[in-house]
Amino acid sequence: MKKILVVSSANMDMVLNVNSVPVAGQTVIDNGSYSYVPGGKGANSALAFARLGGKCTFVTRVGMDQTGDELVDLYRKEGIDTCYLKRATDAKTGLATIFVEGSGQNRIIVFPGANQKITPDQIDQAIAEAKPDALFLQFEINHDAILYATRVAREAKIPIFIDAGAITPDFPLDKLPELELFSPNESEALTICGISPDSEEKCLEASRAISKLIKAKHIVLKLGSRGAYIYNGSSGELIPTLPIKPVDTTAAGDAFTAALTLKYLECGSIREACAYAHVAGTITVTRKGASSSIPTRDEVEAFIVEMKKKK
Ligand code: RIB
Repeated sequence: MKKILVVSSANMDMVLNVNSVPVAGQTVIDNGSYSYVPGGKGANSALAFARLGGKCTFVTRVGMDQTGDELVDLYRKEGIDTCYLKRATDAKTGLATIFVEGSGQNRIIVFPGANQKITPDQIDQAIAEAKPDALFLQFEINHDAILYATRVAREAKIPIFIDAGAITPDFPLDKLPELELFSPNESEALTICGISPDSEEKCLEASRAISKLIKAKHIVLKLGSRGAYIYNGSSGELIPTLPIKPVDTTAAGDAFTAALTLKYLECGSIREACAYAHVAGTITVTRKGASSSIPTRDEVEAFIVEMKKKK
């Protein structure tokens, strides 16, 4: 069983299912629905690792509030190691407000709160004691924690996988050590290199530009319904995903990159891992919410069996 250390975010999501989002200055009355669902890019990925058959240690920080209690309870019930998860006395648990439109597309605003308080001692202890096979990160936490975790992992020769979720233009990419995988979605690729990967040609252009900023063995661009583009340092390949009508795309990227990482660690083939991750992502978009939509290994495998029967 592969051991993955996730150093990343935990949020409670307030999800509003709406017909349309307001423009500035507009008030919209919408009789859609709303709910509170555990989320956070890091937690979604940690849950994906645990449900897909990995052993996941989750380093994050939540507040001393009731929301923090609920999140920690969930992680423990799901078999995630929370030994190095700490509570912050001076910050609230992270909160995301998510608008989901009828098309399944979402818009997210995150109040990071305690996610900005991850400390080096949490990371040091987790790496020394959990002895992970891989470190997995996103950008929804304090930047110094990301840089620290990558430095310590590099020294310990632990491969580093980064999902570029929530990256901002001020992140010092040149301070990252060599990565095993770097995976941005379309808007994150645009933020990083100024190129929107909206055609295969642009995917290659964007990947080349990103590879000048980040040393990574594999760059995988997540392209939503178009699939994913795998770049190996010289050329690239578009791996289409499965055609499906999305219900809610929230957490699909988190589930995809976690499934990609885990399968890659298990089989060593980024192409094979990508096909598997597409199935995990596809199942995720057919369900509402973040943590509530991430499939188990059995569900992914059953889906693959059904796909083969239809061929
Ligand atoms: O990627 C989806 C996640 O982004 C949500 O669960 C929300 O918490 C934000 O972090």
